[in-house]
Amino acid sequence: MDRLAWVVLFATLMTNLWATAQGIYVDNGNPYDNGTLEVQTLSISQHDAPLLTKVYYPKKIDTYAVLFFTGGLLGEIPAESYSDVLKAIASHGFVVIGVDYLPLAAVSKNERDSDGIQGQVGDQTKKYLAELQWVTQHLEERIARQLNQTGLVPAFDHLAVSCHSAGCDPIVDMTMQNHTFSKAALFLEPFSYNFKTPVTFKMSALMLGTELSTQKPACIYPAQGYDHFYDFWKCPRIVMNVKGHGHCEILNPATFEACKFAHACKINPDSDLKKYRNFIQGISAAFLTTTLQGRDKLQYITNTTALPVELLEFKKDLDC
Ligand SMILES: *[C@@H]1O[C@H](CO)[C@@H](O)[C@H](O)[C@H]1NC(C)=O
Ligand SMILES: *[C@@H]1O[C@H](CO)[C@@H](O)[C@H](O)[C@H]1NC(C)=O
Ligand SMILES: *[C@@H]1O[C@H](CO)[C@@H](O)[C@H](O)[C@H]1NC(C)=O
Ligand SMILES: *[C@@H]1O[C@H](CO)[C@@H](O)[C@H](O)[C@H]1NC(C)=O
Repeated sequence: MDRLAWVVLFATLMTNLWATAQGIYVDNGNPYDNGTLEVQTLSISQHDAPLLTKVYYPKKIDTYAVLFFTGGLLGEIPAESYSDVLKAIASHGFVVIGVDYLPLAAVSKNERDSDGIQGQVGDQTKKYLAELQWVTQHLEERIARQLNQTGLVPAFDHLAVSCHSAGCDPIVDMTMQNHTFSKAALFLEPFSYNFKTPVTFKMSALMLGTELSTQKPACIYPAQGYDHFYDFWKCPRIVMNVKGHGHCEILNPATFEACKFAHACKINPDSDLKKYRNFIQGISAAFLTTTLQGRDKLQYITNTTALPVELLEFKKDLDC
């Protein structure tokens, strides 16, 4: 029944997609395998774009769905530190735009709970929206310049947002301000101080959490984390909590080591990080292929016994 609802939803979506933009690249493989496309990196400085931007895109000339990603973790972690996972997602046929999270500078916890912060978040969100507008207008040309060849199209009408940790603060705010620019939301260990009203619009969402992220030293407070996101989101939505993994394991090895050294978040010293990052890219690719490329790969998310990790929690609400 659940599954049928998604099929109907995507059939409807696909009809729309075909009409607006034909020929989006579709990944036909198993999302947990490496994608087949070779990936190129493009850096755009903050003198050019409103925010420091790293773009990971397949080199092959085609039209690709787009992922707009913001990293988080105390605001110290640039999008570049997620490049292993982001490049792997790109290899499944996505133009992945990583923008840096702007930390809320020196704000005390009291202020965070007062209205003062709302204004700041609003200002920050403007910056992300400006960034999105900038890449929408300029990215195709920048890619052509780097490849010395035109024809590679980032299809901004097939866009999803994604974020890790506090990077989800501005992302949620963006979707609150504009319900239609994004077709889906991929929340990786999300965290937000400002997500205080339930959403009223429909946008497919996947929330992923980890067991250790809420344990001391905690990097996610449950009341503002993935379960909260799930509770405040609307159908269609899925939430899962991955057993035995922690908040820094999504990061590239060097940044993970820094996190471990600083005891910033609880980590599992025995976890197989390569395998975990492969899981993250795989579940992301499964979700994004389904929601943006129009090919149903939901079973790679919902068939939890086949996942390469163990779950402590899995909930879905797809019957809408
Ligand atoms: C996938 O790619 C990663 C990173 O390039 C590599 O370490 C891994 O061995 C590859 N896996 C397979 C199954 O080819
Ligand atoms: C770009 O392509 C043109 C035409 O093929 C060629 O003349 C030029 O050298 C190329 N430039 C670079 C930087 O590759
Ligand atoms: C929302 O975003 C879309 C796509 O960027 C844009 O066309 C539309 O005008 C925006 N709507 C509002 C209310 O800003
Ligand atoms: C789920 O995965 C298991 C293990 O790979 C497999 O045996 C089973 O047939 C799958 N179930 C469905 C409904 O696809």
